[in-house]
Amino acid sequence: MVALLENPLRVGLQQDRIPEPQILVIFGASGDLTQRKIVPALYQMRRERRLPPELTIVGVARREWSHDFFREHLKEGVEEFGGGIGFEAVWEDFAKGVFYCPGDIDKPESYEKLRDFLAEIDQLRGTRGNRVFYLSVAPRFFGEAAQQLGAAGMLADPEKQRLVIEKPFGKDLATAQYLNRVVRQVCKEEQIYRIDHYLGKETVQNLMVFRFANAIFEPLWNRQFVDHVQITVAETVGLEGRAGYYETAGALRDMVQNHLMQLFCLTAMEPPNSLDADSIRNEKVKVIQATRLANAEELSLSAVRGQYSGGWMKGRPVPAYREEEGASPESTVNTFAAIELVVDNWRWKGVPFYLRTGKRMPKKLTEISIHFKEVPHLMFQSAARQMNHNVLALRIQPDEGISMRFEVKTPGNSLRTRSVDMDFRYDAAFGLPSTEAYGRLVVDCMLGDQTLFTRADEVEASWRIMTPLLEAWDAPAAPDAIALYEAGTWGPVEAELLLNKEGRRWRRF
Ligand code: BG6
Repeated sequence: MVALLENPLRVGLQQDRIPEPQILVIFGASGDLTQRKIVPALYQMRRERRLPPELTIVGVARREWSHDFFREHLKEGVEEFGGGIGFEAVWEDFAKGVFYCPGDIDKPESYEKLRDFLAEIDQLRGTRGNRVFYLSVAPRFFGEAAQQLGAAGMLADPEKQRLVIEKPFGKDLATAQYLNRVVRQVCKEEQIYRIDHYLGKETVQNLMVFRFANAIFEPLWNRQFVDHVQITVAETVGLEGRAGYYETAGALRDMVQNHLMQLFCLTAMEPPNSLDADSIRNEKVKVIQATRLANAEELSLSAVRGQYSGGWMKGRPVPAYREEEGASPESTVNTFAAIELVVDNWRWKGVPFYLRTGKRMPKKLTEISIHFKEVPHLMFQSAARQMNHNVLALRIQPDEGISMRFEVKTPGNSLRTRSVDMDFRYDAAFGLPSTEAYGRLVVDCMLGDQTLFTRADEVEASWRIMTPLLEAWDAPAAPDAIALYEAGTWGPVEAELLLNKEGRRWRRF
């Protein structure tokens, strides 16, 4: 713990600056993300005095809400999804900086009205023309909103005006390229913050510290010692009323192309020269460019998709995906995806990376595990009748921590071995709740720090890997083309075969 405080990497990644007075304009402000995540996180940070008192939030959405209604709506969100409001006076002070400006995303008049309103706020709250425009709207509106903001002159100052774009950024390579072009017509890359909230998670940022601030792991972090790597992002939730979006997205677009690929990049990339945003992002792009599906000709050998059928979660029956509200009864959308990636570079040649994610799995958890090679010659009897690989597991969430599995001698006369885990737990070491990912990212954007945001070439490189799969999985197919797995299980049996064919198996949790 002492070492962490003195570590230069830690200092570099630490968010210790307070942004200038700002207006955060949230498009789609009546939606869930604002009420559940963004505002509760900002309120918490305001209470910790990590945000300037002038911070102002302006919600934009179609509904004709008043300022007071919006404030009340956000207060409920802070109470229900944040840590509560604490002293009423603190909330009152925060709420004075909350406004609502109804508007239509596709109407130029709405943007003119907004521009004038923001100019008034500058006078009222001393926000000095600094603005972050957060597009928390349906992805089909990203390009339109950016263009309209540009046309209304609201992105003209690269020093003071920034644009945050939610995921998914495009729905394949071509649409991502198009969106990049559209957005870059109205602002510079330095103003664009493509958000992937996984990068705001404390444990995801720790991946770099763990790898590059410890001398003992780096020499092992390559094809000489690593047999394979697994990345699992399991969720217990189902569709959560998002059929409109999910039916055209599926797990591959919703999770793999962005969140899992970010975890992959941070695990596989080379050490950056420094911690500045572009050094890190250059390394991420380089590793993605060297990466491909293990077998792009025979896709079923390197990718498995599945969809949950009805089952039981925590003792309660849950419906099949196809029975969820808004889902097509014949839907072939993937709610589970597992892929095998290979990296054609010196460090990783021949080391497969297995990525899997699914909804309605038995547990919510995100973990990266590095499976080391076996010893060249085994002299001992193992309790498990076979020697286990050493496994380094980085637990991203929940139960954040890191564990190392190794073999020890079991007590007794014979030389038998058993696997044990050496465990580091974040809560035991630090005891502090970490900053909510969205809060961290919004504040980084206000500070003009792009390190934890995805650059245009990165997002395109990531779509490029997925393209053969997207094409195959998007093609019209009979309902039985997709493997079903029972809700509350770890995915279709085909996913097991993906690893078994190489004599490996997924981690059990
Ligand atoms: C979102 C996806 O980006 O991430 C959701 O759209 C998913 O489908 C969510 O449930 C998972 O985020 P977290 O932080 O709960 O792991």
